[in-house]
Amino acid sequence: MTKTYTLEQIDKIANEIQGRIDIHPKIAMILGSGLGKLSELVSNAVVIPYNELPEWPLSTVEGHAGNLVIGQLEGQDVLIMNGRLHYYEGYSPQQITLPIRVFQRLGIEILVVTNAAGGINQTFVPGNPMLITDQINLLGMAGPNPLRGPNMEEFGPRFPDMSQAYDRELGQIAKEEAQEMDITLYEGVYVSLAGPTFETPAELRFLQTIGADAVGMSTAPEVTVARHSGLRVLGISGITNKASLDGESAASHEEVMETGKRLIPKMMKLLRGILKRLPC
Ligand code: HPA
Repeated sequence: MTKTYTLEQIDKIANEIQGRIDIHPKIAMILGSGLGKLSELVSNAVVIPYNELPEWPLSTVEGHAGNLVIGQLEGQDVLIMNGRLHYYEGYSPQQITLPIRVFQRLGIEILVVTNAAGGINQTFVPGNPMLITDQINLLGMAGPNPLRGPNMEEFGPRFPDMSQAYDRELGQIAKEEAQEMDITLYEGVYVSLAGPTFETPAELRFLQTIGADAVGMSTAPEVTVARHSGLRVLGISGITNKASLDGESAASHEEVMETGKRLIPKMMKLLRGILKRLPC
């Protein structure tokens, strides 16, 4: 049977977090590779290392710290997850998404997710962000869906709707901010794979055929669970590399991190602008 968490376990973590802060943030952000810098801008920050939270899985990947940062950013109370968890690290989708359950019990209403992604859409120039308009949870569709196991009615229904996984009003705010800031913001469908291998050219052509614009190894599990419990989601991918459909060039973690560095100032500027305007 899949490992699942009880409401008591989830509430124990939520209480541990709430006991250390005196605000009630409505916005949570999951920061992808390299974007941890954003959490350095949080004022009145309370930092909680993951290893101080019962059951909380630890980040094992370079570029991902492992703490929650709670405080104010751009006039909003925020809870930042600095360092995300991935399926390829060996965690189950239920473990990866435990934080989302905790967020919901803490009263979070909006989840902002960011990630690094390969550009399948061949018009995408690496170094620019993409607003995620929809997702293909290839990982979850094929089996390990984070909602597998007994349904927790306290959070949502057995068969949740995913027709508007990414919130259109929040997406509109992102588009307006990008335009005002003169930042190129692509729009497209993000496909989540298990990783850790990068894709073969045949896999990339397959992903292109099924309608994916960007590919990565995270996000869909968290968004699935967020939607199950009714959180509104805004997702932004940083396009770090161009998917090579003919195998003439190879993706690498180094390239992802290198381009990520160029993307960080843009993503940070955009996210800060968006944050100011989030309806909370
Ligand atoms: N494939 C999968 N995940 C990624 C990529 C990629 O090309 N780039 C950044 N994350």
